[in-house]
Amino acid sequence: MAIKPVLRMGDERLWRVARPVSHFDTRQLHDLLADMRDTMQALNGAGLAAPQIGVDLRVVIFGVSGEQQNSRYPDAETVPETVLINPVITALGSDIEEDWEGCLSVPGLRGLVPRHAHIRYQGQDEYGAQIDRTVKGFHARVVQHECDHLDGILYPMRIRDMTKFGYTGELFPGKDMQDE
Ligand code: NI
Repeated sequence: MAIKPVLRMGDERLWRVARPVSHFDTRQLHDLLADMRDTMQALNGAGLAAPQIGVDLRVVIFGVSGEQQNSRYPDAETVPETVLINPVITALGSDIEEDWEGCLSVPGLRGLVPRHAHIRYQGQDEYGAQIDRTVKGFHARVVQHECDHLDGILYPMRIRDMTKFGYTGELFPGKDMQDE
């Protein structure tokens, strides 16, 4: 399949509430996921949502493992490679954590974003099999970030202190950080 251009903040397609997937294990869905994987890998991202490549469906992929884990997220727990469709997130408890996020649709920038520390997420994989996980920390953050894309929300909209939003080079001088 193909590496697709990632839409950037300002493109109206990123503000849509995406449509649910109703048919699983279809050629169309497998092709979409192949494009999403190719695009995410090419950009070394931790996750990608279908709306970011202009596809109006409730589909996200994410995962951090192996070499990428070691080089980019040394302090983060491993997040399994996951296809998550029609997700539902339930916050567990009221703990909120703030941490730095980036986004392939907001290149070159980082922001300090509050997220639920513990969540349960449910949904389906590309074959329609149920997914039901309870997670915390970085894993929970990645899921919340990607699923926000399905509701037309980009992380800058959640930043509470706008002095903690800026260009990576200015926020973290001397560190070579990539978009995610
Ligand atoms: Ni993003």
